[in-house]
Amino acid sequence: MIIRMQWYNLVVLLALVSFSACSKSGGTSTGGGGTGGGGGGGTTTVILKNLATPPVGVGISYDLFKNNLSYSGLIKTQFDRVTAEYQMKHGANVKNDGTYEFSRTDDFVNLAQANGLSVFGHVLAWHQNNNGTYLRSLSGAAQVNSALQNWITTMVTRYKTKVTGWDVANEVVVDGTGDLRTSANSPAGSDVFYWADQLGRNYIADAFRWANAADPAAKLFINDYNLEYDSRKLDSVIKIINELKAASVPIHGVGTQMHININTSNAGIDNMFQKLAATGLLVHVSEIDVRINPSSASPFTPTTALYDQQAQKFRYIAESYFRNVPAAQRWGLTVWNLTDADSWIVQSGKIDFPTLFDAGYIKNLRSLNIVQDYNNK
Ligand code: XIL
Repeated sequence: MIIRMQWYNLVVLLALVSFSACSKSGGTSTGGGGTGGGGGGGTTTVILKNLATPPVGVGISYDLFKNNLSYSGLIKTQFDRVTAEYQMKHGANVKNDGTYEFSRTDDFVNLAQANGLSVFGHVLAWHQNNNGTYLRSLSGAAQVNSALQNWITTMVTRYKTKVTGWDVANEVVVDGTGDLRTSANSPAGSDVFYWADQLGRNYIADAFRWANAADPAAKLFINDYNLEYDSRKLDSVIKIINELKAASVPIHGVGTQMHININTSNAGIDNMFQKLAATGLLVHVSEIDVRINPSSASPFTPTTALYDQQAQKFRYIAESYFRNVPAAQRWGLTVWNLTDADSWIVQSGKIDFPTLFDAGYIKNLRSLNIVQDYNNK
């Protein structure tokens, strides 16, 4: 794999990057490894994973990882850990009749491991990306309960020892109010199914218990978005965490997605990390991207000034995480998607440039700011 490095990138890299602080080699990484891949000290290529003690991850497409050598090569070189952006979800593994089809997911997990990448499991109980046809065919809470238990148990058992941690419950509360998410307060969709409609809030605790029974060694996370922005939502997620802990439910971590933009408040980021750290749980920054066109202006041309603001925001995430989350609680930093071309935001039709790499697999200059930040840790 080759990063297609243009001359000016090379010059800037040579000028700015020092590899003197390769913290993984002497660090206390909580997982993922951080070995091998794409050079190392003294090369002209920035290796993100070598620059932070906690694992550095990326949310990826199974198909691109399998079929596109530029994509897979860059992931192998730069990251410790992968999260499947779709392949480990209910809708990717459950057929319309409720039977399972795991061949692609098996291949994804095996491919990742063969390439020295650890796999973070995403996601067991979410309202989107489900096989809605199957779930809507069920009648009554008992059937829905069995379907969720069977899915979680089957999935976690199948990838036991291969998957070190799971997002068990994802986006369980709504924006603004922090209320439990149900069809009464959230939109419908063909792949949408609200477990809480039939099961109430108990599905959250049950999901953790079932996952833990299937793999007692796996670290189990609750995950949500807008926590840096929406304090009611943040407090609501923390309330749920405290309830789960009080009931001795096996929850080990909290993920903050951080789908943010250049205008996101730094004070909000600090407040979030401080409150999440105070839970005592592992904290995963689980799906980072930083939009530079948050108002979806069209036409839109990215400018150096916008990229600079984006760089500051990426850097601030890392700074605040290291400042506010104790080392023992740092599960890692995961960016969502590899390049601006495959970003879920761009794929959904928005004009934006929210990732660390441009469509040509060239490291955007702004990512260097993150590198420099990591070097300070
Ligand atoms: C997105 C994926 O990136 C897309 O490929 C998919 O079509 C929809 O889901 N929060 C999450 C992720 O927890 O699973 C979502 O990923 C992005 C928002």
